[in-house]
Amino acid sequence: MLLCYSGTGNSYSACKTIQSALGGDIGDIALRVNNENFTVNLEFNEPLGLVFPVYCGNIPEAVRKFVENMDIVNSGQHYIYAVFTCSSGCGFAPEDLSSALEKSDLMLDAYFTLLMPNNALVYMEPEDTYTIEQKLEAADTELEAIIEDVRERRTGAIRTVVGKYDPSEKEKHRNTYNKSRTTDNFSVTEFCGGCGFCENFCPEDIIKIQNGKATWTKDTCSLCMGCLNLCPYTAIMYAGLRPKGRYHNDVFYPKSAGIAMTLETKREHD
Ligand SMILES: Cc1cc2nc3c(=O)[nH]c(=O)nc-3n(C[C@H](O)[C@H](O)[C@H](O)COP(=O)(O)O)c2cc1C
Ligand code: SF4
Ligand code: SF4
Repeated sequence: MLLCYSGTGNSYSACKTIQSALGGDIGDIALRVNNENFTVNLEFNEPLGLVFPVYCGNIPEAVRKFVENMDIVNSGQHYIYAVFTCSSGCGFAPEDLSSALEKSDLMLDAYFTLLMPNNALVYMEPEDTYTIEQKLEAADTELEAIIEDVRERRTGAIRTVVGKYDPSEKEKHRNTYNKSRTTDNFSVTEFCGGCGFCENFCPEDIIKIQNGKATWTKDTCSLCMGCLNLCPYTAIMYAGLRPKGRYHNDVFYPKSAGIAMTLETKREHD
């Protein structure tokens, strides 16, 4: 089984690739947290893959919440592995995840870093099309190796890219992430006409249309940045800033979900 959290589709696309090679169901971590469903039913000896993005060198808050409460039903030896998708390195995510798993009396057997395009585009410049294509191509090759490692039940830190993280700054990164998760940071421009795309999209079910505009109804979220990247009218701002670009992985939502219209309308307002 694979359990996935994904804001813009990179992790979901990795999950789909692993699933097509190794089989098993894909579960949505955000949905499970929303429903307070922490039970994971596995077949005897079935491996469990956790696939999600790295946020400020940490694991997403929803993933932490889920893993800390996770209850695996069934006996047998469950090989537990994680694939951290990130733009430059997984930072403290492996130790972060291991600590969360410990709270459920579970252990991480293996983990992998998968470098993918960056979706945090409020403060950072967007990657150019060539870099995005190169990263996606390299990720496909890397995934083939990861799938082989999982098939062979290899353990430990495998082909891991940590990135430029000073170990003494772990707490600082955690605090930055936690502060950034405040939904007060979100606002909409006059281009928000209350189309409802973000309300349907938000994996944590936080955005509601009120008085014809998107409104954030909880104090914090995991900061997947899906709403910022996918709003069809590029109407969402963060900390008073419009993102410098938009990114989503094409396999996340099929064109029928409205992304084709997104790109059309985006040109008008950018
Ligand atoms: C709030 C936030 C913080 C991020 N922090 C990091 C980071 O510390 N290191 C990194 O390499 N990538 C970072 N990223 C980039 C994402 O991890 C990367 O683009 C990921 O593949 C997105 O996955 P998704 O498309 O499944 O949501 C960050 C993205 C967001 C939204
Ligand atoms: S997707 Fe954009 S335009 Fe549509 S309701 Fe949300 S913020 Fe407004
Ligand atoms: S409010 Fe936006 S950034 Fe936060 S979880 Fe929902 S879609 Fe993601």
